[in-house]
Amino acid sequence: MRILFLTHSFNSLTQRLFVDLTEEGHEVSIEFDIADSVTEEAVALFQPDIILAPFLKRAIPDAVWRNNVCLVIHPGIVGDRGPSALDWAIQRGENEWGVTVLQANAVMDGGDIWAAETFPMGLAKKSSLYRNQVTEASSRAVKTAVARYLQGGFQPCPLKEWPGARGKEHPLMRQADRKINWESDDTQTVLRKIHAADGFPGVRDELFGSNCYLFDAHAEPGMAGRPGALLGWRGHGVVRATRDGAVRIGHVRRPDGEHTFKLPASVAFASESESLPLLDDTGADGIRYEEADSVGYLYFDFYNGAMATAQCRLLLDAYRKACARPTRVIVLMGGEDFWSNGIHLNLIEAADSPADESWNNIQAMDDLAEAILRTTSHLTIAALAGNAGAGGAFLALAADLVWARPGVVLNPHYKNMGNLYGSELWSYTLPRRIGAAQAQDIMQNRLPLGAEQARRMGIVDACFGTDMESFRSEVKKRALELSVMPDYEGRLAAKAEMRRCEESIKPLVLYREFELAEMRRNFYGFDPSYHYARYQFVHKTPHAWTPRHLCRHRDNRQS
Ligand code: COA
Repeated sequence: MRILFLTHSFNSLTQRLFVDLTEEGHEVSIEFDIADSVTEEAVALFQPDIILAPFLKRAIPDAVWRNNVCLVIHPGIVGDRGPSALDWAIQRGENEWGVTVLQANAVMDGGDIWAAETFPMGLAKKSSLYRNQVTEASSRAVKTAVARYLQGGFQPCPLKEWPGARGKEHPLMRQADRKINWESDDTQTVLRKIHAADGFPGVRDELFGSNCYLFDAHAEPGMAGRPGALLGWRGHGVVRATRDGAVRIGHVRRPDGEHTFKLPASVAFASESESLPLLDDTGADGIRYEEADSVGYLYFDFYNGAMATAQCRLLLDAYRKACARPTRVIVLMGGEDFWSNGIHLNLIEAADSPADESWNNIQAMDDLAEAILRTTSHLTIAALAGNAGAGGAFLALAADLVWARPGVVLNPHYKNMGNLYGSELWSYTLPRRIGAAQAQDIMQNRLPLGAEQARRMGIVDACFGTDMESFRSEVKKRALELSVMPDYEGRLAAKAEMRRCEESIKPLVLYREFELAEMRRNFYGFDPSYHYARYQFVHKTPHAWTPRHLCRHRDNRQS
């Protein structure tokens, strides 16, 4: 079947559905929702059987939904309507939420229902719910809707006939609805308000007398003070007292600041930082090490999976300590939302010299990748519970084994960021796993890969678990099995021998030097594409056209 995605951007949900439907054998093409005329042209060129709208900010043009079956994914339970579905659900503290696939008509989110799914909802950031629960539920609901369409004869259900529909229409959530009352709101309420606005638009507030939007909130048990008072810095976050405790705010966006994009609070308010004390920052950097039997687990839960120079260095330090332990296996657990997305583009954009900071950051990433690759004391595993992109995906390949949750989406390529060459020793690890020709294709195609697809190609070694919890408990079971397998010593020796042999053919340092020479050109050379692309990415400049590698229907026109 030909399925046209009409979407605001190729975001995580859209990528996941692209992977799912392509895996089911459908021909998927993508058009960004830029203007009605562009949408109409895309439909005329591609002649889709159905149109899917995973992430839209505007209504589908009349002429399109009247003449085509257009399925809209709404991140809300049946009957819920409005542009702030998840925001309200989080603020209200719903225990169960859902996704509905409806047929577009003249009423926004009011069409007949093709499929619906629900999921249990705990206290979590909106972006996290979206990338995990909403994405999983959407995947199930879309597959059901597409199967129903293929079978033929299915009549979508009008809302008024849906049994037990409890959703309602809600308006756009405004900053007034999000406002924190620091005198009277307790920690749970503050967390709920910030989570409901994370990653966008944030909660408007004031810190150090300046306007800012708050993100990345964490409860700080055991801390308290006069409600609203700033208590100090923990990691890069500022700790603020609530009515009954305190929260740490990790990231802010200052609309009137020198940089108007999201940054760690301590960077955005660097000049104010000395006015507050430094508190004990144990555990505030997102890095955590656990040990069970002879397995070490290294967690690194960095906001948005972005790994700044300092974070890479801290992680390398933690990794070296893990290697010094009398364990047998080290599992690199990453974070729940993302395993890693590579160098920290926002901090690079904010640096006095973005080229220098890009250089420092990639060196720090490479040091980490190289340390993992050179490890001969342990077997290493990258366990991807969340997605990984660009340098983050290649960092995972530095481990001996890569395990992934089936819902994970990988973007093992760099070119989308202004034709970046990329490093993290990818030119050693990727061809070694899948051969030079396929490695070249992946780098050029710039498309997301589902974990299962990546497993078939050899990029991932095993794919298991149904959800985050089952994945992580299975990781622990398998890592333990690996550590006690009868030929563990033999396997470790074979790994060391393989490394020694490969090093004698071509030392790792040569791969690294070659990649870095290319990266140096990207950072310091005449072609500013990387700096331009990074600026657009960090400032979230809306797309003016759909990239050619996504809108296959436009290639058809040329052929
Ligand atoms: N540095 C800083 N921020 C990053 C980041 C990075 N490397 N990668 C992602 N983010 C941020 C995004 O800006 C976004 O921020 P928000 O909280 O304001 O929404 C958030 O993480 C989620 O990213 P988004 O693009 O919305 O997620 P996605 O799941 O739709 O897409 C990627 C995932 C990896 C495809 C996409 O984020 C991407 O291309 N990232 C850049 C990767 C890269 O080029 N790294 C540098 C080279 S190593």
